[in-house]
Amino acid sequence: MAEYLRLPHSLALIRIRNPPVNAISPAVLYGIKEGLQKAVSDHTVKAIVISGADGKFCAGVDIHVFSTPWSSDTGLGDLVDEMQRNKKPVVAAIEGMALGGGLELALGSHYRIAHVQTETGFPEVTLGILPGARGTQLLPRLIGIPAALDLITSGRCILAGEAFKLGILDKVVNSDPLEKGIKFARTILDQPLECRRIMNKTVPNVPNMDAIFSEVFAKVRKQYPGYIAPETCIRAVQASVKHPYEVGIKEEKELAVYLVESGQARALQYAFFAERNANKWSTPSGVSWKTASVRPISLVGVLGKHVGEFLDSPHLHMVRAAIYLVPSGVKFCGKHIAVLAPLILIQVHELFILCVRTGDGNFFFFFFVVLGPELRTYTLSHSTSSQLIEMENILVPRGWGEVVSTFLTISNNGTMNIHVQVLCRHTVFSSLRDSIYVIYIRNFRVSDLAGLDVGWKGRKGQGLTGPALPPGTPARKRGNIRYCPIPDILCESGRFGQKTGKGWYQYDKPLGRIHKPDPWLSKFLSQYRETYHIEPRVISQDEILERCLYALINEAFRILGEGIAASPEHIDVIYLHGYGWPRYRGGPMFYASTVGLSTILEKLQKYYRQNPDIPQLEPSNYLKKLAAHGNPPLKEWQRLAGTPSSKL
Ligand code: 3HC
Repeated sequence: MAEYLRLPHSLALIRIRNPPVNAISPAVLYGIKEGLQKAVSDHTVKAIVISGADGKFCAGVDIHVFSTPWSSDTGLGDLVDEMQRNKKPVVAAIEGMALGGGLELALGSHYRIAHVQTETGFPEVTLGILPGARGTQLLPRLIGIPAALDLITSGRCILAGEAFKLGILDKVVNSDPLEKGIKFARTILDQPLECRRIMNKTVPNVPNMDAIFSEVFAKVRKQYPGYIAPETCIRAVQASVKHPYEVGIKEEKELAVYLVESGQARALQYAFFAERNANKWSTPSGVSWKTASVRPISLVGVLGKHVGEFLDSPHLHMVRAAIYLVPSGVKFCGKHIAVLAPLILIQVHELFILCVRTGDGNFFFFFFVVLGPELRTYTLSHSTSSQLIEMENILVPRGWGEVVSTFLTISNNGTMNIHVQVLCRHTVFSSLRDSIYVIYIRNFRVSDLAGLDVGWKGRKGQGLTGPALPPGTPARKRGNIRYCPIPDILCESGRFGQKTGKGWYQYDKPLGRIHKPDPWLSKFLSQYRETYHIEPRVISQDEILERCLYALINEAFRILGEGIAASPEHIDVIYLHGYGWPRYRGGPMFYASTVGLSTILEKLQKYYRQNPDIPQLEPSNYLKKLAAHGNPPLKEWQRLAGTPSSKL
């Protein structure tokens, strides 16, 4: 886990070895401590080099440990202090990555030499925690408050060149950093160490410290609404300014424990592993990313409502080029092809379909929503990568490309059925807006964006509305099932959504993007209730949320039970990346595990008894099977409920 090697020239080497990324497990920590003790007690050793095996220094603490009792104090912080106080110089020879606890180990060293391609940073905030092994106290002392705040609150990883400029690294090299580190160590055997101990430094003073903190607090509140880790990270960094080191590290520890024990950290760490699991898909016939061959792209098309206008925007020339990509095997824009965005439905500005045709004539379709100012770049590489597109890929059976759309329909039905019962539409919307269920608001925005006439056409085709509807069909029933005709009525009134300037919302102009609630809709809804004698009642926030969300969760269990989704993690990754589900809630399946399956079952049973004509509320067999086991951990669900025949 950490090898100790005696080297010539009075040196010792401690090499971390814990594949695949040399994460710090209890055994690794023990190994480093033991190596350090051996080096200290061997009077022939004059300096220590620390490195990582297989070209990777260390990716930080093993994230798995945060769900174990070891989590609240890994002991890494004490080791970092011990390294700093060590009387013999410690040189970190860094390659590949020094992330999180890995960077803390490097900061505990007296010198840091890294290969130019090394990535370094504190990604803890993205896992809902903070650099709790002295990182929040050492980094500000080394590089100053503004730069430390930026790295710690964003979780941004930087290359060695930038880290060197910031003062994190002492030297950047192009060749083997271990070799260079060993050579360097021989030159500093007798150098004084006091000035190399970061713990002894004071945080560089800047005149407007308070203003800097206030600004960063405001920034993270805006940028990461609902997340607790970024603000807590700032508080920990603040402690480095307010207190001497010994007090600062205590505050860091308290804040770290608060975060580690929070539900948000559990959800974010779950999301980290769920994404990696989702990428390991394979079909029962053995097809996976590893076995899949990459097909050359022969054509890319972008379809969408404002494509022309969008393409005229000078900074989006890559999209324009995407349209002209034709020859097979020819590199396109280097190897980049699409500048389109993930499916995060916040600040939706535009909707696109990206269509890619590969050399063998197969088509891939991607549904995109473009975020205005935060446009992100995704890479589609046709010859250099084993993955067709560097974004989350979820395997679904043929014809189930619309797993997400199915969820959308379910959640829309849930929301709409509730919607006509409440006193005022804004009650639903405002109660939803404040919470996780903001996702449902987006459903209405997405419907407006996609065009309400799209669904209308589909329903007409199915005979649910329009001329094919048998005369005498009750407006709010189709067979025994409750039907909500409101979207049809909106379309009959010419409200097709954003394209006509009105739909669920009103817009500044046809094709306009600025939306606001439409008083017409409130009036329409009260007339609707009168017409159909729907008694207005105040529906509690809990009921609104449960009926909307649990119906969605129920559907997810059905999909799992039918073998349509490969695992609960796949469903969550779809929601995290496809619907902007708040990452700190992990996804609907993770959320269900936190609420408790028997609670969800009971609530669905209750609502279904009250609304037997809403089939989405009828608990699925899969959920019932699982709930019979109490509230088993998510990892156990598929084993306990039995593996359905896979439709993949
Ligand atoms: N702990 C446990 N497992 C880890 C890990 C970690 N810190 N980092 C990566 N892994 C695992 C992944 O789960 C994956 O396992 P798998 O093969 O079984 O799926 C494997 O390592 C490879 O990871 P990736 O598939 O992500 O490989 P990449 O090459 O794309 O990325 C990486 C490598 C940049 C290291 C990326 O995995 C990463 O960002 N890891 C997280 C780093 C991090 O957040 N570190 C901070 C940890 S918390 C901490 O240190 C607290 C301290 O401050 C007290």
